[in-house]
Amino acid sequence: MDRLVEIEHVSKLFGGVHALENVSMGLSQGEVVGVVGHNGAGKSTLMKVLSGALRPDGGHIRMDGQEVDIDSPITAHHLGIEMIFQDLALLDNLNAVENFFLGRELTRRVFGVTVSDKRRMREIASRALAEINPNFRNIDTEVGNMSGGQRQSISIARAVHSDTRLLIMDEPTAALGPEETEMVRQLVRRLKDQGIGIFLIGHDLQDVITLSDRIVAMRGGQVVGEVAAGSVSEDELLGMIIAGRCPDHGTPGPGARA
Ligand SMILES: Nc1ncnc2c1ncn2[C@@H]1O[C@H](COP(=O)(O)OP(=O)(O)OP(=O)(O)O)[C@@H](O)[C@H]1O
Ligand SMILES: [Mg+2]
Repeated sequence: MDRLVEIEHVSKLFGGVHALENVSMGLSQGEVVGVVGHNGAGKSTLMKVLSGALRPDGGHIRMDGQEVDIDSPITAHHLGIEMIFQDLALLDNLNAVENFFLGRELTRRVFGVTVSDKRRMREIASRALAEINPNFRNIDTEVGNMSGGQRQSISIARAVHSDTRLLIMDEPTAALGPEETEMVRQLVRRLKDQGIGIFLIGHDLQDVITLSDRIVAMRGGQVVGEVAAGSVSEDELLGMIIAGRCPDHGTPGPGARA
């Protein structure tokens, strides 16, 4: 069966700097693939290419075996690709409902005039948020006054509300406390069970090992290798990230060192 997503030989240059060089990796439905690497390894750049925020300079992306041209975040959205950004792209001065529908407000016609359909948006957002986080309260509070966990709930609810097939989570627990981190972990498992494919970027290696099926390590814009999460140790992952050494049980990539 064709993979949900196949990234093939993707490269990206910023000025003369190779942020990505010949990067390939795949993801199946209901699979969680962890992506690890030091600061500047190229993780976010790769995921921005996949979510239409950046154009690659080379390479291809396939979905269900078909080559796709992800030329904008809207195209990505139509393909079922959603990304939760590292910096939690929410607007602090808007409330949960407004952030949930940011850039895709629902409207209705009143006496021939188009107005935003506040009541329907509130209903839909409340339901979606309750599903993600049963403890979510204060839907009318400005998100600038919310905890990291509540903000993350909104980002995730927003991302998986539509017909999402591929979810990209860039450091989803970086700004969270232990309880909220546990909530996000459970959520990753639930989305996986629903058949959503997930790329999970993380710096907490133990966390990535626990949540992922496979892990791809990047270094200097290249893939060092790929390993099964069930058979890799934290030290082996560190060896990949820092020294570019792929363990024997892994599959080395173009960035692997002898
Ligand atoms: N918009 C940009 N303009 C110029 N250079 C960039 C830009 N975005 C990223 N880079 C460079 O590309 C390289 C990869 O950066 P990227 O943000 O993808 O790394 P990362 O693996 O996500 O790191 P981190 O763990 O810090 O989030 C770095 O050298 C970075 O400085
Ligand atoms: Mg990053």
